[in-house]
Amino acid sequence: MNVSDSIRYIGVYDDTIDLFEGQYPVPQGISYNSYLILDEKVALMDTVDQRATAKWLDNLQEALGGRTIDYLIVSHMEPDHAGSLFKIAELYPEMTIVGNAKTFPMISQFFPIDLTGRTLVVKEGDTLSLGRHTLTFTMAPMVHWPEVMMTYESEEKIVFSADAFGRFGDPESGEEWTPEARRYFINIVGKYGAQVQAVLKKVGGLDVRTICPLHGPVLQDNLGFYIGLYDTWSSYRSEEKGVLIAYASIHGHTAEAAAYLADQLKAKGETAELINLGRADLSEAVAQAFRFDRMVLACSTYDGGIFTPMDAFLHRLRAKSYQNRTVYLVENGTWAPMAAKQMRAALEEMKNISVAEPVVTIRSAMNDAVKESLNHLI
Ligand code: FEO
Repeated sequence: MNVSDSIRYIGVYDDTIDLFEGQYPVPQGISYNSYLILDEKVALMDTVDQRATAKWLDNLQEALGGRTIDYLIVSHMEPDHAGSLFKIAELYPEMTIVGNAKTFPMISQFFPIDLTGRTLVVKEGDTLSLGRHTLTFTMAPMVHWPEVMMTYESEEKIVFSADAFGRFGDPESGEEWTPEARRYFINIVGKYGAQVQAVLKKVGGLDVRTICPLHGPVLQDNLGFYIGLYDTWSSYRSEEKGVLIAYASIHGHTAEAAAYLADQLKAKGETAELINLGRADLSEAVAQAFRFDRMVLACSTYDGGIFTPMDAFLHRLRAKSYQNRTVYLVENGTWAPMAAKQMRAALEEMKNISVAEPVVTIRSAMNDAVKESLNHLI
């Protein structure tokens, strides 16, 4: 997966990790991308998670072909990328570490390392010539940490985009980019939509032929497609017209109502996706919520309030700045239905959520009256 003759991919695909960042299931693994620019000077673009140091060093040595490293560009200090920084700094004591004012305090926090005389502090618009290749640095704070910066290489028109445009999975699998890029973006960077918008504007004026992210495949064709999705996600617009029906059901009656509603919507020609919050991973549920313009929350009453899986879902939606959507409520309760009232209160804490009326209330089990209400819900 080389980028060009002089820019080598030396990242590592990790299929041994089960939870990325300690919480996101990655059944298809994830890659820690790193690149090597070979010119009169040699620049290493980021390191990798320490889980992958040995394999990465093998890749690095092979790509170097006996040369040394002049610069290490640190785009992002999160340990999935900077985890091998200490090791490479030890191995190449003549190497200059390139970062911004926020990078170096983080290096000191993570590693017991003295970089005196080995640092180059860059700021917005600064350039670094490697020979034929010139790097221009642009700050991308909170995409996804404060110290993040992107690098534009003007000879080959490449953006090294840090976490942006990354996705879970094997970068060489050829699988559809969008599903795992969406889940990655919404859950990891989704809270920082305004900051992503700012970066999109900054790089929007550049002639870009290739995007080199820190996870997932190198992007070289149809870049407008990927940039368009990033614009949609980061501005909290829906990706498509459709309804996510997210349900939390204790004994199956609420699930039955959700399935009935999905069938009715599909019969009307709507796109409708069902998700069982008791089973699904929340990262996927939240990504699907962002995907569609409307959502139905169907929930049993539990302990006088919201059934636990729905409560967790609402908490995650709020944390990821879910907004600008219409939400329909279906509740169930045998003696004192309370789920809708409390779901509404949770939704009112989010920005620009329209809760549709009326709410459908199920008393224990489905019946014809509930079906009639569901028929007219959307
Ligand atoms: Fe892939 Fe924010 O680290």
